[in-house]
Amino acid sequence: MILIGTREGKRTDYMLKAAAAENTPLEVLPWEALQNQPPWEKLPEDLLPGQSPTERLQGAAVKIDPPPAQTFHLEEMAKSLEAYKNILEHLAKAECRFLNTPESIRLLLDKRRTKHLLGDSGIPVTEIFPEEPSNVEELLELMERRRCYSVFVKPRYFSGAAGVAAFRVHPRRDKFCLYTSCQLKKNQLANTKKLSRTENPKEICHLLDRLLALDCVVERWHPKANFHGKSFDLRVVFQFGHVAFIVARQSPGPITNLHLNNQALPAKSLGLASPILDEIETICARACSVFPGLSMAGIDILLERGTLRPRIIEMNGQGDLIYQDIYGENLIYREQARHLRCEEITSVNDGK
Ligand SMILES: Nc1ncnc2c1ncn2[C@@H]1O[C@H](COP(=O)(O)OP(=O)(O)OP(=O)(O)O)[C@@H](O)[C@H]1O
Ligand SMILES: [Mg+2]
Repeated sequence: MILIGTREGKRTDYMLKAAAAENTPLEVLPWEALQNQPPWEKLPEDLLPGQSPTERLQGAAVKIDPPPAQTFHLEEMAKSLEAYKNILEHLAKAECRFLNTPESIRLLLDKRRTKHLLGDSGIPVTEIFPEEPSNVEELLELMERRRCYSVFVKPRYFSGAAGVAAFRVHPRRDKFCLYTSCQLKKNQLANTKKLSRTENPKEICHLLDRLLALDCVVERWHPKANFHGKSFDLRVVFQFGHVAFIVARQSPGPITNLHLNNQALPAKSLGLASPILDEIETICARACSVFPGLSMAGIDILLERGTLRPRIIEMNGQGDLIYQDIYGENLIYREQARHLRCEEITSVNDGK
């Protein structure tokens, strides 16, 4: 088994532990080796003598973890992302078995296409608008036209809540409110690990203008169910046809990502009725079947306030790092190691 990942870090450390526990020989092919030079030239001798990455991967069982973050600046992230997508395109040529194929990972990076494919299959998702406003004026017009005064603005391709903004405007346009972890620092849009809330219209418009100049999607802001006075949603890791783990993420604000100081809760503590849990499992299974070559996905799901009806917020082809699992039984990675060893993965890539 080969893990394309960072040399060090939790994903690599715990995948190595899982592989050892499952007697699956595992080698790490570091992202740095693919990034530091045109990757499809020969790799540095000390890493993999005389072999290109596609040669190196031939016949292996391969998992692709995300590349290391290279920048906190949103405008620069767009450039690294292009390089990442390029590498995935090249990796797709390797004749090997992938946990998730490079094509499926690449497709899920695109929030707009993912939502359309899910929506076309009748799977409940948070509503995405077809319009692509490129400044605040156009955004406000869209909100007015759709009579939707609370929206999410999200960069189409980023992850880790980078540039995600929840924006609410009073219908009379005299009161604005914005939650986001992104800030303008030295006139650059920077991703931070702190969620902030502001009502200053000038500040909000300036930030949204810069954000919307990137490729963004706009969605309806769906109110989430509450637990003990705070809203929550779920990260479900679905793999090999079943729910492997659910973690609830509880937040005083509308953005629940755990690196933003939000609280993780065991899903059991929510006391969700079994028909809801069954519906979540069914939705996840249907969602994964839309994407060929996908054995595992981290799926963000909200339960609508009041009805508790589940809707998919987004799917992530590399969304399987769950601290509550790795620091516990490490079940997610162990199951992956077992499947990769046993050649049970269906996503065989014949390199064509
Ligand atoms: N339409 C929506 N309605 C309500 N909440 C939303 C909506 N879209 C996003 N959110 C909230 O914002 C969070 C971040 O959004 P999203 O998951 O799409 O971004 P991301 O950058 O891909 O995150 P990550 O890659 O870390 O999962 C979600 O987990 C959810 O709490
Ligand atoms: Mg998410």
